[in-house]
Amino acid sequence: MGTTTLFKPTKIQRQALSLLKGGTKHILLFGGSRSGKTTVLVMALIYRALRFAGSRHLICRLRAKDARSSVLRETLLPWLTNTIGNQNYTYLVHENMITLFNGSEIWIGGLGDREQADKILGHEYNTIYFNEISQLSYAAVTTAYSRLAMRVPGCRNLFLYDCNPGSPLHWAYKIFIRKKTFLTGEPLEKPELYASMILNPEDNKEHLPEDYISDILDALPEKQRARFRDGAWVKAEGVIYEKFDETMILKPGELPETFDRLSAGQDFGLNITNVKIGRLGEIIYVIADYGAYNMTTQSFNDELTARGWFGLGPDGLGFPVYCDPAGGERIQEITGGIKANNSVESGIDYINAKIERGQFFVSAKCTGVLSEIWDYCRDEAGEIVKVNDHFMDALRYAVFSDVQQGVVVL
Ligand SMILES: Nc1ncnc2c1ncn2[C@@H]1O[C@H](COP(=O)(O)OP(=O)(O)O)[C@@H](O)[C@H]1O
Ligand SMILES: [Mg+2]
Repeated sequence: MGTTTLFKPTKIQRQALSLLKGGTKHILLFGGSRSGKTTVLVMALIYRALRFAGSRHLICRLRAKDARSSVLRETLLPWLTNTIGNQNYTYLVHENMITLFNGSEIWIGGLGDREQADKILGHEYNTIYFNEISQLSYAAVTTAYSRLAMRVPGCRNLFLYDCNPGSPLHWAYKIFIRKKTFLTGEPLEKPELYASMILNPEDNKEHLPEDYISDILDALPEKQRARFRDGAWVKAEGVIYEKFDETMILKPGELPETFDRLSAGQDFGLNITNVKIGRLGEIIYVIADYGAYNMTTQSFNDELTARGWFGLGPDGLGFPVYCDPAGGERIQEITGGIKANNSVESGIDYINAKIERGQFFVSAKCTGVLSEIWDYCRDEAGEIVKVNDHFMDALRYAVFSDVQQGVVVL
């Protein structure tokens, strides 16, 4: 082998590595930016690939191009070169895959890209590392779960995760920090399989530019500083539904039993979602939601049907399901499907007005809506961040199309 540099973990990275050696199956490293999360997880994955010849490992995040730039080029390839040397691995660019001299493979890809989803989910792995999970839907991550099925003697298969913290309503917070089952809110059946650790930039000072914390992180606006310097799970900066608060989340028994009107919103895509609402007087109740990943429209509609989704509205008729107008032919595959109004800004303004007047409530059962509502935000330029917004779109179609159709007056 050529010249090699040993990986010297920081103190906190050593603790993370010992956590990995314990008996847990799901390990989340969260915290501020540039705290060494990705580096230590990539190193762990490299160790595993070296130790178990012929094993297979996956690194995925939302976008393949981000996986390639931030994980592959900045971390994985440099550390492979450092530790085993260039001559001992091959990067097959078109395959998004690296083979090591011992026959092990490391795959890299984006769960948000359709061509990639089928390809990366077409294999079995010994490690699946979800990078920056604040951007990933629960449905996407759990769909990938079944692929952790490769068998290599002696190798205990693992799920690894990392992220800058999202909101305290994000699915990862609920599972890893509150130790609750995401969909039901019940305590986790086997909490011992889930572990998390916080790593902050302060812990990685030795590898950061002198002024990174003092000049860059300290100078961030409050909420960003809490997330990116201190690793706190707080509402994002620039949250669109800023005034939504926990008092607007209702337990199932607290919702009315009948409504003046029902409607639903349907979003299409790799993450396919439906949100159902009821109106009673001026008040909007978000009563149910359902989302899936990499499912055909037909199967999704069958699943909704099986869940008794399309019961009749108060007038004895089926209710409208307002669909993403870009859905084309898919709209006809949805029971009651019609084109939604997609005036994004007016829809958001309408929902915000409802929230401010205390006329907007969400059932605690609506885990998809809740998981996104405090992370749905604008960037510095005021543009909506199009990440983790699948339920937010469906919600807006459900709420605002009725208004636009004149069924409900403003
Ligand atoms: N043990 C280490 N040895 C050398 N450099 C490290 C080590 N851990 C982290 N770094 C460097 O610190 C910076 C931030 O690490 P990274 O893993 O990308 O942080 P995060 O994923 O938490 O944002 C990167 O430049 C990385 O190369
Ligand atoms: Mg990282």
